[in-house]
Amino acid sequence: MSSGVIGVFDSGFGGLTVLKALMAQLPEARFVFLGDTARLPYGSKSQRTIARYAAESAQFLVEQQGAEFLVIACNTASALALDAIKESVTVPVLGVIEPGAAGAAKSSTSRDVMVIATEATVASHAYAAACRARGLRGVEKACPLLVPLVEEGWIDHPVTEEVVRIYLKELLQEARQSGQNPDTLVLGCTHYPLLRVVFDRVLLQLTGPSGVQVIDSAEATAAMAAEQIGARTGHAPGSHLPGAGPRIQCFATDSVEKFERLGSRFLGLPVGRVQLVDLGG
Ligand code: DGL
Repeated sequence: MSSGVIGVFDSGFGGLTVLKALMAQLPEARFVFLGDTARLPYGSKSQRTIARYAAESAQFLVEQQGAEFLVIACNTASALALDAIKESVTVPVLGVIEPGAAGAAKSSTSRDVMVIATEATVASHAYAAACRARGLRGVEKACPLLVPLVEEGWIDHPVTEEVVRIYLKELLQEARQSGQNPDTLVLGCTHYPLLRVVFDRVLLQLTGPSGVQVIDSAEATAAMAAEQIGARTGHAPGSHLPGAGPRIQCFATDSVEKFERLGSRFLGLPVGRVQLVDLGG
């Protein structure tokens, strides 16, 4: 890597939770972020469609924006299209599944973990496979109502809390019925870190204070990206990167105004001017 521009891709602006973690890990790096908002959600689409959309998006970041390292913030694209993305670009690509599973492996002592994600991610069993490769047993659950609730801005909301409670109760029950004793929950979707407070509260009620540790794959991914970039450049992550230009530039394929309005909630600071880009249908 020479210019050190890092591309971050998501199906929408939920991936800004990953960008936020990356910015903390790589304080001097520059980032280009693409949210494929015109084609969101990916979580209910087929593998073939997700792979095509994700590869086009990755090419935009590399070929048109000069990204030299790609972070696939979208769990669904990471689960179903990582190989297709890697084949479509010439730069290193990091998805969120492996770091999430590695984070779970670090945290779990019972070696039983729970994963919540979109329908497509769960159907791919990518997290279960990554957990198995680390000697963990993983039980997965699709939580399709959570993305729309977060998109609606219903973060600390009684309806959202009730939905989270129902999902987690069912998941704990499924895990226990299959003889597991889970001590870790992986948030396997870009939108779920926004509900972290709700997850912590509900888990405390359901499992008690020493119950279940929550793994945010955004944090785990940022740490792994910093490690990989540091290893490639031989520099402390971000320390050699040029200071010129804005710290982040965001692109979206639709809904630029909504991205600007809600994006700051995901990023924790203003996203700046978002540019509209057309990647076709
Ligand atoms: N970005 C997706 C993920 O992390 C959630 C939104 C979608 O379904 O596109 O799985």
